[in-house]
Amino acid sequence: MRCADRVTGLILAGLAAGSLSTIPARAAPPATPAATASGAADLKSEGPTQPAKVQDGQYTDKNGDPTYHITDNGKKVDWYTMSGYLRYNANCIVCHGPDGMGSTYAPSLVDALKGMDYAHFAGIIVGGKKDVNASQELVMPAFGDNRNVMCYMPDIYTYLRARSDGALGRNRPPEHEPKPAAFEKAEDACMK
Ligand code: HEC
Repeated sequence: MRCADRVTGLILAGLAAGSLSTIPARAAPPATPAATASGAADLKSEGPTQPAKVQDGQYTDKNGDPTYHITDNGKKVDWYTMSGYLRYNANCIVCHGPDGMGSTYAPSLVDALKGMDYAHFAGIIVGGKKDVNASQELVMPAFGDNRNVMCYMPDIYTYLRARSDGALGRNRPPEHEPKPAAFEKAEDACMK
């Protein structure tokens, strides 16, 4: 299943990065002399989590987990954060409320994402979660068969991580980095 491959790839990449602590922060040579001078600054994000690497517009932390790149006082986000915002609003908002804030039915994801790594998050989204007791039955549906969610899992994680870290405020991010060509290719392959 091709769309699971993208997700598995990310998880495997995360494991590899975790075991190779000496991976250089920037693998690709900078395109221009100007980029050389500001190379380190390009990766710097607002918020407590700093990206260690960017590839095709997707930022990852030192463990290889997807993370956000936010600049301009919270006004500009990387493409994955933007995409995650859109997918969250299409698939999760009905239960978890606007901006991940939670509802009477489902918990705040701003709180839940604190310290939750990508593998744990992915496990819940794929398999769902149930909390049944005498007074209530809370059900988080399994999305493992839903491409509208599976194909965008890193995106949704990235967006919620930014919200959870306090790096991104409420509402739609005003500006975003361009949609990477690689994103469009992976999306087409996954949604087929
Ligand atoms: C039909 C309602 C519903 C939808 C839609 C839904 N969820 Fe949930 N979700 C829940 C409920 C209820 C829980 C709490 C389950 C529990 O306590 O065991 C939950 C739990 C979670 C948790 C675990 C929180 C924790 O504290 O461990 C995560 C992460 C999560 N949801 C993410 C998402 C994402 C991302 C989406 C959209 C792709 C989504 N959910 C869509 C109802 C929903």
